[in-house]
Amino acid sequence: MALRFVHCSDIHLLDLRGTSPWRFLNKRMTGAVNLALKRRKRHDGRIFDAIVASAAKLAADRLVVTGDVTNLALQSEFELVRRKFSASPVPVTVIPGNHDAYTRGSARSGRFAEYLGEFMAGERVDDSEFPFVQRFGDVALVGCSSAVPSLPLYATGRLGDAQLARLDKTLARLADQTCVRVVLVHHPVVDGVSHERHDLLDIAAFQRVIQARGAELILHGHEHRKLVGSLPGPTGRVPVHGISSGTSVVPSVGKRAAFAVYDVDGADIGRRLFVWNGADFDETEPTAA
Ligand SMILES: [Fe+2]
Repeated sequence: MALRFVHCSDIHLLDLRGTSPWRFLNKRMTGAVNLALKRRKRHDGRIFDAIVASAAKLAADRLVVTGDVTNLALQSEFELVRRKFSASPVPVTVIPGNHDAYTRGSARSGRFAEYLGEFMAGERVDDSEFPFVQRFGDVALVGCSSAVPSLPLYATGRLGDAQLARLDKTLARLADQTCVRVVLVHHPVVDGVSHERHDLLDIAAFQRVIQARGAELILHGHEHRKLVGSLPGPTGRVPVHGISSGTSVVPSVGKRAAFAVYDVDGADIGRRLFVWNGADFDETEPTAA
């Protein structure tokens, strides 16, 4: 069975409505709200609606969002995101980003799963949350979480040894079933892509799992720019693709809002990139993954 899916990321939908003012009494959250308001100038949530419409027009089977769907992990933001995802005519798959675990409170209460768990339904190892596997014939989306709360001015991620052990097991099992394995993770996994304080803290351990077990494609977000790289796998290089923010109105092409369409057919993975032109998406550079 062939699968067509759209990949976008870092949509940062902002909704401060109904949020109690006491929440912002601490210095950190006041600063965070100010930052989010500033960031609003660089994002337009309506572009995400255009991605959803494009995904439907392209008859995509799935819309994959690799995290940072909110800014501050507020309930009002998650409510907005859930409404948007539920209204999408193309079923959504989502993983969390660091912004979706912005505060220890939001992370501890499991707010992301509470609001968006239905978009992460799938097979799991030992009932653990991550990774989850969504199977579409011989294609498997493998959703990981690198979302952890970090100190102010940090945007680091961590998968953790336990999740990496489950990922190792999962990738091996899917390889035995000759599945096309598409690994989803919010933070970049190629060395040197993210600067310090913005990086995946256990990047080397993730790379060791890929080196041992392989994958057919790895997708991420976080950097708000288009990135193409690869990691060594047991039988060759594994392509790694990052996409810019799905709602960015930043003018430079690599940082403007974009989405990618993947056509997986047997072992072939085709990729097309669409970039926002201010009113709609233009297709650019058709490439093989
Ligand atoms: Fe991020």
